[in-house]
Amino acid sequence: MSAQNITIIGLQWGDEGKGKIVDLLASSCRYVVRYCGGANAGHTVTVSGQQYPLHLVPSGILHEGVRNIVANGVAFDPAIALEEIDTLRERGITINAENLSISSSANVVMPYHKLADRLSEQSLGAGKIGTTALGIGPCYSDKAARTLAIRVADLLAPETLKEKIARIVEIKSKTFRSVFGYDEPIDAEGIWREYCDYGKRLAEMIVDTGAILRRAWQRGERICFEGGQGSMLDIDHGTFPYVTSSSVSACGVPAGAGVPPKAVGHVIGVIKAYTSRVGAGPFPTEQDNQIGQYLRERGKEYGTTTGRPRRCGWFDAVAVKYAADLSGVDELALMLLDVLSGLETIKICTQYRFDDDKIVQHHSIPLLMSSAKCVYEQLPGWDERIEDVRSFSDLPTNARAYVQRIEEFIGKPIGLIGVGPERGQIIKHNTGLENIVI
Ligand code: GDP
Ligand code: IMO
Ligand code: MG
Repeated sequence: MSAQNITIIGLQWGDEGKGKIVDLLASSCRYVVRYCGGANAGHTVTVSGQQYPLHLVPSGILHEGVRNIVANGVAFDPAIALEEIDTLRERGITINAENLSISSSANVVMPYHKLADRLSEQSLGAGKIGTTALGIGPCYSDKAARTLAIRVADLLAPETLKEKIARIVEIKSKTFRSVFGYDEPIDAEGIWREYCDYGKRLAEMIVDTGAILRRAWQRGERICFEGGQGSMLDIDHGTFPYVTSSSVSACGVPAGAGVPPKAVGHVIGVIKAYTSRVGAGPFPTEQDNQIGQYLRERGKEYGTTTGRPRRCGWFDAVAVKYAADLSGVDELALMLLDVLSGLETIKICTQYRFDDDKIVQHHSIPLLMSSAKCVYEQLPGWDERIEDVRSFSDLPTNARAYVQRIEEFIGKPIGLIGVGPERGQIIKHNTGLENIVI
């Protein structure tokens, strides 16, 4: 029988702890695949007190025998990827063509994409999205526009690359001048040299990753698809326009990795025991007060990629149920439960209410969020530290009740519970993974 694949996605606004779960399951998989987003992702893996913040390198990289793949759906920034590879190598991690492959069809983030991201955000003023300024949106815009895109394969064809960059830079310069009044020259020749060099350095890792994954699936080798961001940031299904520019839910896996929809396999929806969000946009359960501060400090809620303080609030069961349904999740991984210790009461938003009864029926949950008022259910908190707990029955009664209420509301089992950042700080609960990997 062929191995069942695993898809690990975020069900909130990112930073749910996906990296930790991918690392946990990677040793049972042959492939770990990033299929969406780019260096805007920051996935932290912590092993023996050592933190590994990963942006473009998939979170299976710390495991021998795992082939890590940056698939076609990723906005690939070679400068950031190489820096990350160098840093990991300096820390003793082996990275070569055996354990890291990059899709020749992935779109390349160019310096003018980062510039466009910054200029666009500046021009929006108070209405800005609050992007990571890494050029993600402009790169995907050029992908959709087709004639302005550079793909990874282009880095290996210097002469064509030179022509393409010269043509694109001319167009970009005109656009930046007329749209943003930006007059600085863009050095096409310099960019070309820099990107040719990236091509040379990455050449042996650049392959048709879709073909590799389809063959692997047919051979019955297990693949883990590693989502970036979170479902509420999905370009189609999130809190548009305050979203990122790719398809980050499990629905994005087939297109972003070049595999048939059936390859998605067992879907794990990763959630925080509360909610965090970086950047602008609706966040109904946000606590811009002492509670929010408590969560931010205890959860160390500062961006892995940008260092920005994350906005924090209560668990939003309405949003998570929506995201879980969207991706057809099989089970949940509830992370950072330890952060809630010490709170007298804990709230869960179980319903949205609106001042205006005439709420437009055709609006989806993400679009309704900006005018939603939360109806909360209150649960008693617990004081005990739970970082050393390894079995569900050893959790404080109120912590168990909190977990069970979330399970009940979302209608999906909570398979794994995170009680600390370390690899081993996990409780196996109602997981269907026993039949698959662990
Ligand atoms: P990702 O983007 O979904 O991979 O998540 P991030 O790495 O951006 O953010 C999650 C943060 O929480 C990281 O600093 C992790 O090391 C940390 N973390 C993961 N799981 C737990 C947990 O169960 N408890 C605590 N306290 N921290 C956790
Ligand atoms: P991981 O994979 C949290 C957010 C940005 C901004 C919006 C658009 O670590 O969970 P972009 O630069 O993508 O155009 O920014 O999306 N964002 C994330 N927030 N975690 C992430 O990734 C994110 N990736 C993008 O903060 O609000
Ligand atoms: Mg993150």
